[in-house]
Amino acid sequence: MGAWSVWTLVVVLVAVLCGSVGGLENGLARTPPMGWLAWQRFRCNTDCVNDPHHCISESLFMEMADIIVREGYRELGYDLVSLDDCWLARERDARGRLQPDPHRFPSGIPALADYMHKRGLKFGIYEDYGNFTCAGYPGILGHLQTDAITFAEWGVDYVKLDGCYSHPTDMDRGYPEFGYFLNKTGRPMVYSCSWPFYQIFSKMEPNYTAIINTCNLWRNFDDIQDSWESVQRIIDYYGDNQESIVPNAGPGHWNDPDMLIIGNFGLSYEQSKSQMAMWAIFAAPLLMSVDLRTIRPEYKAILQNKAVIAVNQDPLGIQGKRIYKDKGIEIWARPITPVFQGHYSYAVAFLNRRTDGTPSEVSVTLRELGLAYPSGYGITDLFDGVHYGNVLPDKRFKVDVNPSGVVLVRCAVVKSGSGGGVGRRVPPAHFRQHPPQSSFNNPFQNNLFNNQFG
Ligand code: GLA
Repeated sequence: MGAWSVWTLVVVLVAVLCGSVGGLENGLARTPPMGWLAWQRFRCNTDCVNDPHHCISESLFMEMADIIVREGYRELGYDLVSLDDCWLARERDARGRLQPDPHRFPSGIPALADYMHKRGLKFGIYEDYGNFTCAGYPGILGHLQTDAITFAEWGVDYVKLDGCYSHPTDMDRGYPEFGYFLNKTGRPMVYSCSWPFYQIFSKMEPNYTAIINTCNLWRNFDDIQDSWESVQRIIDYYGDNQESIVPNAGPGHWNDPDMLIIGNFGLSYEQSKSQMAMWAIFAAPLLMSVDLRTIRPEYKAILQNKAVIAVNQDPLGIQGKRIYKDKGIEIWARPITPVFQGHYSYAVAFLNRRTDGTPSEVSVTLRELGLAYPSGYGITDLFDGVHYGNVLPDKRFKVDVNPSGVVLVRCAVVKSGSGGGVGRRVPPAHFRQHPPQSSFNNPFQNNLFNNQFG
């Protein structure tokens, strides 16, 4: 049975059966991880001779760390800087240990980790449970314990473990085994897995119970690319499969729809707001992959939107669901704090997938959305900051949603007796009462909503 000894197998199996392996017990990632990850923007550019400012090198990560600190990202929660593929040398060292490319990481990995720690940041690394990483660098297969120990000694705080060049059927054993070795080092390391993605891709049904008990986050869908089409495919996957994947998310264990591409080449301003809003609804890790040195201010503002980040980081950790979808209009809702008398507050995203040249009007009541708390909800638009006042469940209101854009509102339960304007008689302008005018008005009229969150 090769590198996997019978004894290790027994230990891991016992640990899995006793529920003592993994993410849930490592106490980490109580809210979705936030930070910066190299892959989507910088890929496997190793040409530091001709392209020194964009190649995968220690200086790239140091520069990003400096900006994350200097420009306020860290204070907002983006506290991880992580390597992705292509940091490694082609061979292990004489003792069989992983080593970085010596030309691109001349100071070594411990120094890079130290650089992050001195700035109040965490340091992430990338590896692969296979013979090779996806880009062909040495994988961890056959070296699991050595590599876990190496990462701990280097001061790694976060490990992304990919799954190229390994067989998906081996992953049910391999991912828990490496998680076991990570935990055994005693150093807390967030464990990011690609396990379900490779299994789904090869038509296997992932064992999410085991995945939740092993990983802090996991990819379940294809790599994000720099396009709105790619973002929409991910949104569709999450919506179409929500009954099986949403219940798996919670403090310490998250679905990972992949990196934020906001500020790159492929998304418009509206589409960027849509990605940020949807990743907040998904309780997704917020892993920026953008050149922070050159990002335009309006895109930076999206990434730094405190109110949207607060939805993403809501302590309940309940992932949102798609509650309406018709003719290119979608409504998504995520239960959030505060909770009062058993009633959740909600973040609600109105997403317009249409390509009309004009915004679409969506008109609903909160009750149609499943928000039935009798004292109503204080509603705030999280991108433009407009506060709509307190709205009772049967009050009809409308939002105008730009093509490929989103309106994201926070609906906070109004505590009865708080004097918060309950039962306000004159609705604010944005919540005009009016009969349905187009097919998007009253989207629930033919589609009665059941409160999906029970
Ligand atoms: C896979 C992963 C990506 C990235 C690349 C690196 O495709 O899903 O996120 O890590 O490998 O090669």
